[in-house]
Amino acid sequence: MRVLSGSQPSGKLHLGNYLGAIRQHLQDQHVHECFFFIANYHSLTTIQDAARLRELTRDVALDYLALGLDPARACLFRQSDVPEVTELAWILSTVTGKGLLERAHSYKDKIAKGIQPSMGLFCYPVLMAADILIYHSDLVPVGKDQVQHIEMTQDMAEYFNNTYGRPVLKRPEPKLNESPVVPGLDGQKMSKSYHNTIPLFDPPKAVRKLIMSIKTDSTPVEAPKDPETCNVFALYRLIAAPAERDALADRYRAGGMGYGEAKGLLADAVEGLLAPARERRQKLENDADYVEDVLTASARKARSLAQAVMHEVREVCGIVISKSHEP
Ligand code: ADP
Ligand code: TRP
Repeated sequence: MRVLSGSQPSGKLHLGNYLGAIRQHLQDQHVHECFFFIANYHSLTTIQDAARLRELTRDVALDYLALGLDPARACLFRQSDVPEVTELAWILSTVTGKGLLERAHSYKDKIAKGIQPSMGLFCYPVLMAADILIYHSDLVPVGKDQVQHIEMTQDMAEYFNNTYGRPVLKRPEPKLNESPVVPGLDGQKMSKSYHNTIPLFDPPKAVRKLIMSIKTDSTPVEAPKDPETCNVFALYRLIAAPAERDALADRYRAGGMGYGEAKGLLADAVEGLLAPARERRQKLENDADYVEDVLTASARKARSLAQAVMHEVREVCGIVISKSHEP
């Protein structure tokens, strides 16, 4: 199966992104043919500062490689290294009704948050559909909030195929991340919009300090506690091995353990998870050539798939380009 997913370079990654999405992307590289890309064209809908966009784009590459993306198993590339996606987005927009885009929840949510309703923001799902369809992707791992975009992609593939009477574009399926919603410091969904995150690559002391600030109830130390309703335990269970998880749950129920101690155990577990990635990231930061080589080699592979699909797309819709422009 061909798996494809994109991440917008829009800010520091946090534990919710890792446990909710990236960890599963990285597991997929052992099972499927994987393509992961940095959705920098999408980010132009919110980031209009060249230096910042360059920096954030580089950060996503460093983050994925540090967290364990293996360039021998999976492709990691910049969306902009396959410029054909913007061409396909245009072609898809000509077979897609405006009503479909008007129904997009994420567009409405972003406007409600005060983001300018540019044409780019409105057409965001069309570019996303092009990202997916241009590689004949089978599966698209995403969070719940993105499922509607995949359904719109399925619709756009069908509109195109029906319009031109040929099954050129392949129908993709969403692959819902298995992890539940990861709670943030205040117990709401961890999200950079809520300022309640545990950033993956902050210094260890800062991470520990944040963990010590997780909101808990006021049950006294001696009293038994319910692990199922505790934010600290909710995070611990996503990281710890099953035996450690069960041992901590037993200690909650037995009483005599304060939340401070549970937070300490969580901080140790988080540090155990992040320390190796932090070290790899520091090395990668000093090896810009290696990172660039990975992105370039991956993009070459992705682009050659995209060019083959675009050749067929242009053919069925009668778009002629000079032979000298064909790969
Ligand atoms: P944020 O809410 O911080 O802006 P994004 O929307 O950029 O995060 O999320 C990127 C990916 O990480 C998505 O696939 C999303 O489903 C996943 N993700 C983000 N926060 C969480 C969370 N708290 N729990 C589970 N998954 C999450
Ligand atoms: N819209 C996705 C998000 O915000 C990012 C994205 C862009 C994407 N293109 C994609 C995800 C294609 C999967 C497939 O998370």
